[in-house]
Amino acid sequence: MRMSVSFLAAAAVLALSGAAYAGPAEDYIKANKCSKCHTEKTTKKGPSFASLAEKYKGDAKASATMLNTLKTGGKEDHEKVPGTDAELQAVIAFILASK
Ligand code: HEC
Repeated sequence: MRMSVSFLAAAAVLALSGAAYAGPAEDYIKANKCSKCHTEKTTKKGPSFASLAEKYKGDAKASATMLNTLKTGGKEDHEKVPGTDAELQAVIAFILASK
């Protein structure tokens, strides 16, 4: 009994901290005009966030791959993007959670 109560408490904390990420990530995307080429659902110049989430579904290296693309330009020569690793990780987590 004790176990399951603390498990539920931990799950609640995780759910809350997960939700807290959505704010900064969305602010970053707005502030850095990623939406010139990306939206959540429709393909513009760049793929939609939902389609990226689909493409990387189940890929354990998804975050590392995307972080590398954003920092170096990647294979396709992505625009250089500003921000710290932590900010970019938050944006990537947001993208991977898009549906
Ligand atoms: C000028 C248009 C343009 C802008 C602005 C842009 N992107 Fe992209 N993005 C693309 C295109 C095109 C692709 C697909 C080809 C590629 O991976 O470079 C892409 C791919 C991506 C990917 C997938 C990378 C991968 O490794 O599969 C991520 C993540 C991403 N963009 C995030 C961002 C973020 C965050 C911003 C804002 C800082 C941004 N993009 C701004 C055009 C853009």
